[in-house]
Amino acid sequence: MRSRVTVVGAGNVGATTAQRIAERELADVVLVDVVEGIPEGKALDLREAAPVERHDARVVGAYDYAATAGSEIVVITAGLARKPGMSRDDLLLKNHQIVSSVVEQAVKHSPDTLLLVVSNPLDAMVYTALKTSGFPRERVIGMAGVLDSARMRSFIAEELDVSVESTHAFVLGGHGDAMVPLPRYSTVAGVPITRLMKKERIEHIVDRTRNGGAEVVALLKTGSAFYAPSSCVVEMVETILHDKKKILPCAVYLQGEYGIRDCVVGVPVKLGAGGLKQILEIDLEADEAAALERSAEAVRELIAKLPL
Ligand code: NAI
Ligand code: 2OP
Repeated sequence: MRSRVTVVGAGNVGATTAQRIAERELADVVLVDVVEGIPEGKALDLREAAPVERHDARVVGAYDYAATAGSEIVVITAGLARKPGMSRDDLLLKNHQIVSSVVEQAVKHSPDTLLLVVSNPLDAMVYTALKTSGFPRERVIGMAGVLDSARMRSFIAEELDVSVESTHAFVLGGHGDAMVPLPRYSTVAGVPITRLMKKERIEHIVDRTRNGGAEVVALLKTGSAFYAPSSCVVEMVETILHDKKKILPCAVYLQGEYGIRDCVVGVPVKLGAGGLKQILEIDLEADEAAALERSAEAVRELIAKLPL
């Protein structure tokens, strides 16, 4: 029997995530949304592609969480984008409401599930999911560092004209302007980029990584990135379902690691069956540790505004 993965929010990120999971036959997918017709319509469309894409994964659309019962993973992409006249704080509170309600309904039908949060502001929404579900931190994980690191890898590969497959990058911290790309731990064939590029080029890549989401929004104008985000969600889904124990930067609740407590930020973790298996504490130089603390402080400011 195939695993079942629920994807809540059948918008750009959610629907593309459902497509990638089905096409890799990683799991059957339940796609949930609140807008009438959308989850069923997109699920039907994906099922009709299956004979050509040659997979037998079942994709169904639903509004009622009863259809999601027994999900191994619930991916949460539900949320609003910022609209004219809406402050960042308005968005924070609105998405907090949406994520809380999604979590309450999802865990009722899948009490042993793992929550994989994507909705923004990411770190505060992971915190929301953790507190609403009452789950242990091992089963509430946010996707952002995998995306920020993938963006950095793509920029390194372009700069050095090498395969993306030969690159590795680590971006830690919150998923915001204060994220912490780490050039010392970013490599090509194992060689740190600090030995391969001039300082100005590294700074350019670091800045571009920090602004990666905004760069896509500025081009699209009516929405944000979804191809790369969905690829990154699916990498995490596969790692968990196949118990691969990959080391990936994920947003998790810290309880003293890196000197940070009661806050969610991106750090390197061993990911596998059951979710978070271990937090890796890599050596940071003083400026890197200070940048991580600043990033955590920015997340704390958001968390402090949540009605929890
Ligand atoms: P979208 O607007 O295309 O899709 C959002 C979907 O959520 C819509 O279909 C909407 O109807 C649905 N929704 C709203 N309230 C709901 C509820 N209570 N229950 C179920 N569904 C509900 O947005 P997109 O582009 O798919 O992005 C989704 C979220 O992911 C946004 O918050 C976005 O900022 C975030 N995001 C996070 C990334 C990360 O790295 N963590 C990367 C890309 C996007
Ligand atoms: C991104 O980084 C919007 O968080 C989203 O593309």
